[in-house]
Amino acid sequence: MAIILGIESSCDDTSAAVIKDGVLLSNVIANQSVHEFYGGVIPELASRAHQQNIIPVVSMAIKTANIKKSEISAIAFTRGPGLMGSLLVGVSFAKGFAKSINVPMVEVNHLQGHILAHFLDEKDKKNPHPRFPFLCLLVSGGHTQLVVVKDYLNFEIIGKTIDDAAGEAFDKCAKVMGLPYPGGPVIDKLAKEGNANVFEFARPVVGGLDYSFSGLKTSFLYFLRDKIAENPDFIEENKADLCASLQHTIIQILLKNLIKASKQTGIEEIAISGGVSANSGLRNALTDEGKRKGWNIYLPPLKFTTDNAAMIAITGYFKYLNNQTCGYDVTPMTRM
Ligand code: KG4
Ligand code: ZN
Repeated sequence: MAIILGIESSCDDTSAAVIKDGVLLSNVIANQSVHEFYGGVIPELASRAHQQNIIPVVSMAIKTANIKKSEISAIAFTRGPGLMGSLLVGVSFAKGFAKSINVPMVEVNHLQGHILAHFLDEKDKKNPHPRFPFLCLLVSGGHTQLVVVKDYLNFEIIGKTIDDAAGEAFDKCAKVMGLPYPGGPVIDKLAKEGNANVFEFARPVVGGLDYSFSGLKTSFLYFLRDKIAENPDFIEENKADLCASLQHTIIQILLKNLIKASKQTGIEEIAISGGVSANSGLRNALTDEGKRKGWNIYLPPLKFTTDNAAMIAITGYFKYLNNQTCGYDVTPMTRM
């Protein structure tokens, strides 16, 4: 029997989860509302909020899982990538706790965690697991990657963004429209009321399977600047169509390389992961494309798309079974 406590603190969510033999018993997340006021994550404030949240969040995860501290086999934690001040809180806490109960630590790459969230089973619900090898489009606030997942712990990145991540494109364009942070879910909601074919935005072209989103953001900004010069109420009057058209453009960019990657690799088991995989337009577009192409599509449950410790605990579980523990001298890494 293996019981893994997972801890996630890479950005602005403090989270702890407990997994017993691959089954999720608890997953507690404390979101930090302090950043909304600033329209983005302020690293120093995130670090301080993690310090306030970490003990109650871990206590709650253990209590909800109905386990004793002494039953924990190992503590898995996000080593990176992420914000240094945020990672430090989770890593330091994991160290102190692991030492105090004398269990090994398992370092987890946050991005692997997002991908392995597809293997999370719940007490009353077994989720569909992709079969190896599968192709995963990982789309979050900090990363956009096309990954061939050969096994639980064997990944190959075959495409990535050369500038902004897809989530950043959502968030930055939302900010330009005066929408609250994080903009992705807000655009998703507004897009449902709009027409995606009203406006056209630039689709930057890069070689191979790589992505680029900074051109889209700039073209969106200049487009709005010109329109506002003619009509100061342009954004307000066209908000839903702007969101729908922008979201459609981002989805088309994402799907184009995913289709290419499937063709190149011959892989037809297709998954998406990360915060942007919560996007309803992306989920629908991928489902439709999957039907056309005969792909098996894997959409993670919504609660496992954005940052959470359940994905860290399941990754830690696979690494623990593989004897991949680390020493108490481990340090966080902002890039991995
Ligand atoms: O994976 P995540 O929680 O954190 C990182 O590891 O970055 O992803 C956060 C990103 C943000 O950019 C947020 O706007 C985006 O995911 N996001 C969405 C949606 N929900 C979250 N983007 C589009 N549509 C959504 N429904
Ligand atoms: Zn993330």
